[in-house]
Amino acid sequence: MFEWFKGYEENRVLKELEDLLSMDIPYSRVLSSMCTYPHPIAVKAHIKFIRSNLGDPGLFPGTAELEKRLLVMLGELFGKRDLAGYISSGGTEGNIQAIRAARNMLCTCRGNIVVPESAHFSFLKIKDLLGIDVRKAGLDEEYRVDIGDVERLVDDETFAIVGIAGTTELGQVDDIKALSKLAIENNLFLHVDAAFGGFVLPFLNNNEFNFRIKGVCSLVADPHKMGMATIPSGAVLFRDSKYLEVLSVETPYLTSSKQFTLTGTRPGTGVASAYAVLKHLGFEGMKKVVLECMRVTQILKEEVESLGLEAVIDPVMNVVCFKCNARKVREELMKRGWVVSCIRKPEAIRCVIMPHLTESAALEFVKVLKNVLHSL
Ligand SMILES: Cc1ncc(COP(=O)(O)O)c(C=O)c1O
Repeated sequence: MFEWFKGYEENRVLKELEDLLSMDIPYSRVLSSMCTYPHPIAVKAHIKFIRSNLGDPGLFPGTAELEKRLLVMLGELFGKRDLAGYISSGGTEGNIQAIRAARNMLCTCRGNIVVPESAHFSFLKIKDLLGIDVRKAGLDEEYRVDIGDVERLVDDETFAIVGIAGTTELGQVDDIKALSKLAIENNLFLHVDAAFGGFVLPFLNNNEFNFRIKGVCSLVADPHKMGMATIPSGAVLFRDSKYLEVLSVETPYLTSSKQFTLTGTRPGTGVASAYAVLKHLGFEGMKKVVLECMRVTQILKEEVESLGLEAVIDPVMNVVCFKCNARKVREELMKRGWVVSCIRKPEAIRCVIMPHLTESAALEFVKVLKNVLHSL
């Protein structure tokens, strides 16, 4: 018999949880994450919907209605009112589902897709899961996908191309219009990975990535990143409901007869928290949050450049990378309680300026970075 078989007092269990939770690093010193503290209204909404399961929507008609209302708002945000889609576990699931839909729709063969070299590692999972070839197109000098290279890699077996609106490493935005032209000319599915950028770019008045662009067939955007919803919350959106149809399986023992999601049991908390934040802050409130992140990003860029480190690109979004001996710098920052990540091409430290990073925290970070650079 194992020690825990008889169970423990609630307080003892909660104490253990608290102890372990206290080991987690507070976001206030984290510059490596694309997630943040959820907005207070997201937490309230999450708790209210804690028992909901959209895997069986007939049991939760209120939550299902909330998802419909959220999809309408997302349609308004991303340039087409009557989008099809659902709230997923995040960008990885969204990317998988989009490429799966494209494959099921356009291709009975193994086929291939062309993604930018800057694509998120979820495309490696897609390669493995779908057994397709994932071709990587090179980047131009500004780290956007090289359209000529995409064109060169497309062949008769290609069924989809991918553009990124907010790359994970640099926050760069590919030329989605040019990809759209290529997709339309070659009858290809165009998927836009806006997992991060989806809740940044519209508030910077940039709509050059969404369904307003004709060739865009699907788009992912994660409320659990800059949308300040609780984890997990990702939106996978399609121009047409036919793409959901090709993802469906029959579900004989549930309240619905078909299911097009990847997971079965599916929380309503991500729907409720994403909806609550958008509805409460509105477009204007979201814009304020994003503009503040951009302001702090600019301050950080100028301050770090004054220490002699060069930014890889001028920040397009609230991500900025600085060329340096990145692994060593990261290690030394970590010892001092600050977390950044590293990118390899070019070697640089990467800072994501999420809503939890205030101006004063950014300035404190710069002081610590200065000490680190002197110590090397
Ligand atoms: C551009 C992009 N796509 C997809 C993902 C994967 O998202 P998730 O970790 O929510 O599955 C990320 C994560 O950072 C991302 O930056």
